[in-house]
Amino acid sequence: MNCLQSWPEPVVRVQHLSESGITSIPDRYVKKPSDRPVFLESSIGSELNINIPVINKQKTADLIDDACREWGFFQVVNHGVSQELMARSREVWREFFKLPPEEKQKYANEPRTYEGYGSRLGVEKGISLDWGDYFFLNYLPIGIRDQNKWPSLPVSSRELIAEYSEEVVKLGGKLMKIFSSNLGLREDYLEEAFGGEGNMSGCMRVNYYPKCPQPDLTLGLSPHSDPGGFTILYPDENVSGLQVRRDGGWVTVDPMPNAFIINIGDQLQILSNSKYKSAEHRVIVNSAKERLSLAFFYNPRGDMLIKPAEQLLREEEPPLYPAMTFDEYRIHIRTRGPSGKSQVESLIKSRQQHT
Ligand code: OGA
Ligand code: NI
Repeated sequence: MNCLQSWPEPVVRVQHLSESGITSIPDRYVKKPSDRPVFLESSIGSELNINIPVINKQKTADLIDDACREWGFFQVVNHGVSQELMARSREVWREFFKLPPEEKQKYANEPRTYEGYGSRLGVEKGISLDWGDYFFLNYLPIGIRDQNKWPSLPVSSRELIAEYSEEVVKLGGKLMKIFSSNLGLREDYLEEAFGGEGNMSGCMRVNYYPKCPQPDLTLGLSPHSDPGGFTILYPDENVSGLQVRRDGGWVTVDPMPNAFIINIGDQLQILSNSKYKSAEHRVIVNSAKERLSLAFFYNPRGDMLIKPAEQLLREEEPPLYPAMTFDEYRIHIRTRGPSGKSQVESLIKSRQQHT
């Protein structure tokens, strides 16, 4: 784990690059041609009239189940989190990223915990970099919460972060029950597997994607699946950018006002023995507008051993994944950075070779 002690190269803030007025981006951000986004003319784009499922009623367990199996992605409206709280939280984060560099630098993060203000994912020297800065913080379990590591500016941001997280965790708990029942498990099965109510791990990554002079050459966040349980994303309502892998192509999500976007992560793929699939996704950037998103990760506590639920196994449906703690699982993305679904898929393969 020594490799996770510090960044291998000086950290460059993407916001600084963006604001410096450069007209071409440094090579480290240029993706190989097959990884670059394709920007369709809007007239052509409208033919692709496709969007992830939108779920807006209480009694929609079946719709959620279909979305989990088919897409690994859906949007929820009428989710119970106050619009006003959402808007204020977003505003506070916008203000944080507008602070002078010295102020943000006080929170500069390190790869050992990733907590704080960061600009890269992955510690290997020379890896491709993405066009985005972020702020990462831990909310649960309470034992690892350290509010001193959260921004103290703008004033009241710490209270707001706590209030927002509390509401989002409540929504997450409801979804966990629905996922459990939908899978045919006891209602509290997944919550227990994650460490128990209030004892799971909850963390937040606020993504800031500055304007980019050459958006067709780079990505705001390279393809990945989220390593944890599932993600409750509050996307930027004014600027789209999130894309979901579908039939070998990429579908741009069209965010609904005041909706959360939910996506299944690798731990739910493992616990459900592949009945639910984590969804591969990425973020594209643009030259006209910056974009800000709040991603809340509802995860197993780091020391919980995660494996396929016994009740879902049959003789003809053996466990596809070995048991592993989430801390151990997460080292991969924290070391190598985003790499599609390679980690969860490689675990299936190694298992098959052994049986
Ligand atoms: C993430 C993520 C999507 C977005 O933070 O893991 O996928 O729209 N974010 O910023
Ligand atoms: Ni993600």
